[in-house]
Amino acid sequence: MKGLFITFEGNDGSGKSSVIKAVHQKLNELGYNVILSREPGGSKIAEKIREIILDKDNLGMDDWTEALLYAASRREHINKTIKPALERGDIILCDRYLDSSLAYQGKARHLGIDEVYNMNQYATNGLLPDLTLLVCVRPEVGLERIAKNRGDKDRLELETIEFHHNVYDGYIEVANKYPERIQIVNGEATMEEVAEDAINKVISFVKERYANDN
Ligand code: TYD
Repeated sequence: MKGLFITFEGNDGSGKSSVIKAVHQKLNELGYNVILSREPGGSKIAEKIREIILDKDNLGMDDWTEALLYAASRREHINKTIKPALERGDIILCDRYLDSSLAYQGKARHLGIDEVYNMNQYATNGLLPDLTLLVCVRPEVGLERIAKNRGDKDRLELETIEFHHNVYDGYIEVANKYPERIQIVNGEATMEEVAEDAINKVISFVKERYANDN
């Protein structure tokens, strides 16, 4: 496919969402056709599944049910949004993708990183991002930021500190497993520095990719 698929990952409170906005703006300024999306969600049915997963009334959800719902929403997202964008030749920036399932469900919910990866093959048909930026902050730092910035916490943000440590460890494990795809951004620097680092990494990747294609 002609386009580029770039995902942004990070533990809760990493500042990933601000980073992705800054990258989106920069790519737009440079004249690229760029689309912003997110998981869970990113298409009509996928957004409906998102509501079920993140609803605080569903705290008793079985862990595999949760993992399967993320995968189901991912499949919808791929078919309705990601693939069409890649076929048009656009750059699609996505706030979370498969690596979130590996870190949250695979590691933190103890379903197993490989098991969750294998189950997701039914959803993705092997579609992996061209580039993933992992915005990392220590879990304590991330949670403190959330407490300061937001009153209402969603279901996953109400998890224990141990859960958040496991998410962090899961991400590091996944980054070590796929070093050619995943680049780490230090989320503990100032917002401007974090955004600048992410923008530089994405721009040099995009330029190199398009130079190689021409
Ligand atoms: P969201 O409100 O989008 O938060 P964030 O700004 O942190 O991305 O919530 C998404 C939550 O869903 C987040 O806590 C991570 C979780 N998640 C998983 O556990 N597995 C997944 O596969 C995905 C995509 C997200």
